[in-house]
Amino acid sequence: MITARDVIQKTRDRQKLTSSEISSFLRGYMSSQITDYHVAAWLMAVYLNGMSTDETLALTREMRDSGKVLDLSAIPGKKIDKHSTGGVGDKTSMMLAPIAAACGVTVPMITGRALGHTGGTLDKLESIPGFNPKPSPGKVIEILKSTGAAIMGQTDDLAPADRRIYALRDVTATVESIPLITASILSKKLAEGIDGLVMDVKAGSGAFMPTLKAATSLSRSIVDVCRAMKTKIVVLITDMEQPLGRAIGNALEIRECIEFLNGQTPEDLETVTIALAAHMIRLGGQARSLDHASKLAYQSVARGEAARRFRQIIRAQGGDERVVDNPDLLPRAANTTGFRAKTSGFVTRCDAKFLGLASNALGAGRHRVEDHVDLAVGIYLDKKLGDRVVKGEVLCRIHWNDERRFTGAVPLIEQAYQIESKPPRRRPLIHAVLKG
Ligand code: URA
Repeated sequence: MITARDVIQKTRDRQKLTSSEISSFLRGYMSSQITDYHVAAWLMAVYLNGMSTDETLALTREMRDSGKVLDLSAIPGKKIDKHSTGGVGDKTSMMLAPIAAACGVTVPMITGRALGHTGGTLDKLESIPGFNPKPSPGKVIEILKSTGAAIMGQTDDLAPADRRIYALRDVTATVESIPLITASILSKKLAEGIDGLVMDVKAGSGAFMPTLKAATSLSRSIVDVCRAMKTKIVVLITDMEQPLGRAIGNALEIRECIEFLNGQTPEDLETVTIALAAHMIRLGGQARSLDHASKLAYQSVARGEAARRFRQIIRAQGGDERVVDNPDLLPRAANTTGFRAKTSGFVTRCDAKFLGLASNALGAGRHRVEDHVDLAVGIYLDKKLGDRVVKGEVLCRIHWNDERRFTGAVPLIEQAYQIESKPPRRRPLIHAVLKG
């Protein structure tokens, strides 16, 4: 049998591992026969030398099978999820689940918490009073049957190998590796027992993959593995140079989602949400074509069906559904201060990463898993890329509770915005669509 040292050496020397070698290495790790230091060394070898599609596939499968795979066969129809690689103001999940469910798709959505400068859907949902992000497996089936969608956190028995490996990657500077990201995301998604997945791979300053080239390589890797696993996949590469929509911060983002479902929305948020929803509806077998699927998604919002569905999902998960009609029931910060333009011109930078860091500095995110999150604070963008501004006009509104934190956030907002005399070149919102 191959030893841990041999596995590390093979990857270090750019030799391919067989699936049984990957399998025995991972199983050895999960049964504590292989140590953190072996795996850390191997992760660095993977980070430096990459892995083939076959190796990535074997790693994904082994990580998925390290825990329970959900059995949703009791629920008729196609089960489709959506996953984003993470961004700032990226709130589409809370709208996609009710829209897709209102169009007849079943959505078992497993989602995460804020880490680094990006927000997390679970934290955002917890700003709805009473919302339970961890229903029991039996309750999940019940919710899916009655509402068509459940949005929940990862349970301990879902791809546990990913949790251990991710923690090691975090402290060994090996997170930004395409095969490791592919296996990490897909092991969790494929453990949900889904028939299809729509991935939103973000590209730009506020994304894991800042360049379009890196985002495209990650997307190809995800498509290749899903194809081999016989899971339908569509990847949209979408822009994250500036935040999506106008709200950043937990309760502020929920408010923006509610406004969207009630018919008011910033254009970029609508474009990306409807595109993702259409692919979910199409993969879910509920539309003849993508155009038809987009029309269904729009109709579900225009007719109030998606808002009704959101109310049902909130109620089924123990939350106060009245927030959909009265967003003032969401937590609100004690203070709001306008951040004003120092010159006149056009906004040529509205940097997602700095605005995400600023929102975190206010207390909306966390640096460590155990950090407390202030659900009320955040930033509302009055001006975005390309907007004309006059000196003294409000660029964004800072919602804050703690003066020291407010003082820490302001320099980051200063760095996020740039105003110049000429408007910037427009970036596409959707850079590419890949299908498997
Ligand atoms: N999201 C994940 O779940 N895993 C990664 O490795 C990166 C982003």
